[in-house]
Amino acid sequence: MNLWESGSLNIAYFVSGSGSNFQNLEDYFREKFPKASGKLVISDKAGIGAQERAENLGIPFIILKPALFSSQEAYEHQLISLLKDNNIHLICLAGYLKKLPVSLIESFRHRIVNIHPALLPSFGGKGMYGIHIHRAVIEKGCKITGVTLHFVTENYDEGPIILQEAVPVLQEDTPEELQKRVLTMEHQLYPMAVELISTQPWTVTGNTFKLTDPHEKD
Ligand code: GRF
Repeated sequence: MNLWESGSLNIAYFVSGSGSNFQNLEDYFREKFPKASGKLVISDKAGIGAQERAENLGIPFIILKPALFSSQEAYEHQLISLLKDNNIHLICLAGYLKKLPVSLIESFRHRIVNIHPALLPSFGGKGMYGIHIHRAVIEKGCKITGVTLHFVTENYDEGPIILQEAVPVLQEDTPEELQKRVLTMEHQLYPMAVELISTQPWTVTGNTFKLTDPHEKD
């Protein structure tokens, strides 16, 4: 099934923190893009901001992590079954801090989107999360940073890039100020990326995401 051909788009959000991106996406869909809607919020943690947001939005919040299962295989089986049983078309990672199992990535190839608060492939990979990213950007003296939306592959932070947008680094920026300005851009760009991949035809060749002309013959 192509995302852009499906009548409706069922989304599962994966979160580990405050959940502002998840809330922003859901608010956007409810107001401007009702084809998409959140069916599940999956997390590795309880008591986080995203849980309260999910409850307020009336979307089931489910905690799933390997420690709750007798084996890694049992965990992966339950996770994939849950997503399939709920007819999930797209997974949106929104501040999810755990690495995804390869079996999930294989089952949802080019159906898992991640947001990264920097311009990948810079400032990605190990240790590059949260405030650490913005601190590193400032320490390196970068004049621009930004936001990247990409498909998730087995290579962490390296999957095909869907959209990117730059954000200026100001001379007096603290990491916290920069983080805030980047987050504002994240809230603009994530809905655009989901709308793009679910309304326009596209292909991925190698690591390159490309919009295609539906009338073009190859
Ligand atoms: C965002 O900066 C996102 O880019 C990163 O984690 C943060 C999550 O923030 N992956 P929130 O929980 O959506 O507020």
